[in-house]
Amino acid sequence: MPETQQVAVKRPQLHFTAKKNWINDPNGLFFDGKQYHLYFQHNPNGVGHGYMSWGHAVSTDLVNWEELPIAILHGDVADIFSGSIVVDHDNTSGFGDGTIPPVIAIYTAAAKDETNQSQAIAYSLDGGATFTKYAQNPVIDRGSKDFRDPKVSRYESAEGSYWVLVAVEAIERRVVIYRSENLIDWTELSSFGPKAAVTGIWECPDLFQLPVSGTDQLKWVLIVSLNPGGIAGGSGTQYFVGEFDGTTFTPDQDVAAVEGLDFEALSAAKWLDFGRDFYAGVSFHGLPVDQQTLIAWMSNWDYARDLPNDGWRGSMSTARTMNLVKNAEGNFEIRQQILGLPVTDVVSQSVTGAETRVELGSPALLELHLAGNVSESAKLSFYRTDESLISEIAVDSALLTHERTAGIVDHELYASTQRMPLPAGLTEITVQVLLDHGSIEILAADGLRSLTDQLTGESAPAYGVLRLAEGTNASVAVLPLDEIEAGTNA
Ligand code: FRU
Repeated sequence: MPETQQVAVKRPQLHFTAKKNWINDPNGLFFDGKQYHLYFQHNPNGVGHGYMSWGHAVSTDLVNWEELPIAILHGDVADIFSGSIVVDHDNTSGFGDGTIPPVIAIYTAAAKDETNQSQAIAYSLDGGATFTKYAQNPVIDRGSKDFRDPKVSRYESAEGSYWVLVAVEAIERRVVIYRSENLIDWTELSSFGPKAAVTGIWECPDLFQLPVSGTDQLKWVLIVSLNPGGIAGGSGTQYFVGEFDGTTFTPDQDVAAVEGLDFEALSAAKWLDFGRDFYAGVSFHGLPVDQQTLIAWMSNWDYARDLPNDGWRGSMSTARTMNLVKNAEGNFEIRQQILGLPVTDVVSQSVTGAETRVELGSPALLELHLAGNVSESAKLSFYRTDESLISEIAVDSALLTHERTAGIVDHELYASTQRMPLPAGLTEITVQVLLDHGSIEILAADGLRSLTDQLTGESAPAYGVLRLAEGTNASVAVLPLDEIEAGTNA
């Protein structure tokens, strides 16, 4: 489908989209104490990937976003690829003027002729609205063509604190870790990988701590996006749980590199999401450890450039807060919870019959609880007003699948069925489904499993039909979300 083909695409209400033109990865997420800042890979000139710059939006609730002017514009020789932001409260960088702490963006300067990718910085003295590129950029240059996506955080320990940067040598499937006192001079500390899923290149790493649910314990998590070679095909996000001692990240489980795309083999890796459209997710700077929150780009490089557009193309996932849960085997898994949904009213329905119609209407959150005979598959199908099928979830005690139809998307990789293995030994199952215009986000087993799929061009479904096997009991709660005061999302 040519990039210029324009069709009427209904905007999501609960997800960020730019007013116009192309977006991909979230960049420089930070919370300034009042507002959440979302920067994003953005083409100011069109609906394809190019002239990469950092767009900017702010929100107080992670749902309604106000788009602001472009924060960092591409230059003559380099594009501004993905990266992160920190607030330099102690003015370690020296860019501050003594009035407000400088906000420092660390991004990849990607040479337009593709000969080099190095890390550069820019500083803002107005809280992140406008940035000045540092005159002596780059701050890290390894002479590499595929060195990108710096994510910086503050490492605090009894021995002192300093800035830590993780980035990728994408083709080598390695995360490289650096340290700095001033955000300008960087020293390489260590590297991690290739490990686990490697059939693709590594991108957009993130290293942060998460609390273990129900304990005082904190563990380190390393997120690595991978494209292609994700568990659902194309772009995907894997993670490692372990320890970081200020120099080296050591995973609890050492998963050797898995060659190939076999689903069972890839299941040795830990996946943040099992859908087709959850990529390049990174966390916010400036939130306490028990509120760690991540947003991902809700698309897949398999087809992102070819999707129908309406003068804008691409959206972000919902914001997810995360913690860790110890599973039956003693390993830690990330649990996610969608933040900011303005739930006003709950319509609960207890289901006994074999086939039940569930009215949905506009964007809606649906909570399905299955008990009894959960080893047999239950099905939840979503329909347009004209009774044609949009997509279908099937769930039993071991596996959830999501099948999406092609709809208006004419691309051979789009119509697909995604599989999500569930935690072992479930005797009852909860499935939360967020339905917006253009997407479905499925969180199962109390958020221990997540599956995010775009439903490009679809309005949120009008109704669902739940089909149960004999002996399965269910209840369904529908939380209408159509009262949203949507800013630029409207
Ligand atoms: C991931 C990515 C990054 C890069 C950016 C370019 O989607 O490929 O590695 O910095 O997008 O837009």
